[in-house]
Amino acid sequence: MLQKLTVFSGIQPTGNLTIGNYIGALSQWVMLQKQYLCIYCIADLHSLTVMKNVQNVNQNILDTLSMLLACGINPEKSIIFAQSNVPQHTQLNWILNCFAKFGELSRMTQFKEKSHCNNTNVVALFNYPILMAADILLYGTHKVPVGKDQIQHLELTRTLAKRFNNIYGNVFIVPEIIIRHHGSCIMSLSNPTKKMSKSDININNIISLLDNNKSIIYKIQHAITDSDTPPLIKYDLINKPGISNLLNILSNITNTSILKLEKEFDGQTYHYFKEYIIEHLNYFLNKLREKYYFYRQDENYLNNILLYGSEKAKAKASVLLNKIYHKLGLQ
Ligand code: TYM
Repeated sequence: MLQKLTVFSGIQPTGNLTIGNYIGALSQWVMLQKQYLCIYCIADLHSLTVMKNVQNVNQNILDTLSMLLACGINPEKSIIFAQSNVPQHTQLNWILNCFAKFGELSRMTQFKEKSHCNNTNVVALFNYPILMAADILLYGTHKVPVGKDQIQHLELTRTLAKRFNNIYGNVFIVPEIIIRHHGSCIMSLSNPTKKMSKSDININNIISLLDNNKSIIYKIQHAITDSDTPPLIKYDLINKPGISNLLNILSNITNTSILKLEKEFDGQTYHYFKEYIIEHLNYFLNKLREKYYFYRQDENYLNNILLYGSEKAKAKASVLLNKIYHKLGLQ
């Protein structure tokens, strides 16, 4: 029997997940389970780089896990674990540190943005992409589903894998990036030139997966569009970024192509368009929220998933790490 290819991805357990996380990443994670061996990591070590209150990490991990389950990640099919429970990630991280170059990391746009926004200069934020590379490469990953903001990190991962392989032979698989055509970057509702981010201090800019109906009504009604007369519901990222962002959201949660939506809303007002989005978003989120609270109440069940997941992950990770240690003459 042919072995399934491996998919790996990660998410930080920082605060409420957004519709951007769902569309850009989690919806892909769910689909890929049908065809691949999927390994999904809750990146708690990454989250330490910007965490204000580290005491909540455990609860945040359980929140995130509950949402993954609510979205449709199946712990019987996929391996789900918390990064800090699998020490091989940090072990490989150190080794890859020895292959990454200062200039490469200095060019990372997320490093520049995050260190600026959080007013921090911790070294871990600088090293962040190398730990990501370790996460991915440790499992012989073939494909990595992510949103657009992670592309630069993934390119570094590919560079490090090739650099190591050039010296030590084919140790790492060089992973491919999987990105959604529409929805790889869901934008802020008030500023559609900026990514929708769970760390945004203005909660009206984001749609949280746990938002209630009333907030959705308020947020969508206040989402920026444009002042074209007559109103035009058309996908045009340059001239109509607000409308395009709303089309991306609607298209992904209703599984309808942008082209079909453009036809459906031809000649309609923005008010009508927004009412339609509110109805569908609320329908989608109500179902998700219900499942989330169902899973969230059973901490035993959640902790068992993490325990089981980390055991499986450790077993897999140690095989490649041993090989790497051997290549490097460390054992
Ligand atoms: P994080 O936690 O910021 O985001 C998790 C996933 O959600 C995607 N995403 C978005 N996609 C579309 N539109 C948006 N507005 C949006 N916001 C977030 C992200 O691209 C990501 O795919 N460093 C990673 C976590 C990580 C990881 C990894 C990912 C750790 N190790 C290994 C892949 C492989 C992060 O901070 O994601």
